[in-house]
Amino acid sequence: FVRRSHSAVDSYFERMLVREDEALRASRSIGASKGFPQHEVSPLQGSFLKLLAETAGAKRILEIGTLAGYSTIWFARVEGIERVVTLELEPERAAVARENLARASLDHLVDCRVGPALDSLQAMTEEDPFDFVFIDADKQNNPAYLTHALRLAAPGSLILADNVVRDGAVVDDASDDPRVRGVRDMATIVANEPTLDATALQTVGKKGWDGFMLMRVK
Ligand code: DHB
Ligand code: MG
Repeated sequence: FVRRSHSAVDSYFERMLVREDEALRASRSIGASKGFPQHEVSPLQGSFLKLLAETAGAKRILEIGTLAGYSTIWFARVEGIERVVTLELEPERAAVARENLARASLDHLVDCRVGPALDSLQAMTEEDPFDFVFIDADKQNNPAYLTHALRLAAPGSLILADNVVRDGAVVDDASDDPRVRGVRDMATIVANEPTLDATALQTVGKKGWDGFMLMRVK
């Protein structure tokens, strides 16, 4: 008897394709035990992020939204990576993320900056350009995060935004949910930005019905 569900399919492919090691498992479980929101990407999504960044030849990755550093570990394991800069609002989460990265022996590759991401982004005036940006923080600030990403990303860079579908809420043009507005206003920026090629991929799995927006700076 096979129990067919999106979660069961995720579990099957996790077993077959994604070998989550102790560092990744610890990052997930310590975040949960501290009561952090369990909003990190799934194992299959983490592997997807790493494969995508490797395919793009990413050397400098900017991550907006660290949480306990689960996706940060995936990014820091990209072949050829030189630097991951990750932005986290909450000092306690940043401290846990740093411990998780140290346990994975990846702390020398990662610069975790604490405080409102918009402040950290505004302070990035002398920063070398990034070639991959992952937007996965408070969704109402997505338009501002994308605007900063465009400033900080070199031509040819990829920008990936998480959680752009949210059970279909994104199509609700009358929504007054600031998270929905954040995704829709980000899409409006993309629609009017001739230097971006973009697509959106809907996803199902352990995290329900959601999706990624993938953009490439021309
Ligand atoms: C939420 C945020 C995320 O980044 C995510 O992947 C899932 C859910 C949230 O804020 O609800
Ligand atoms: Mg997310």
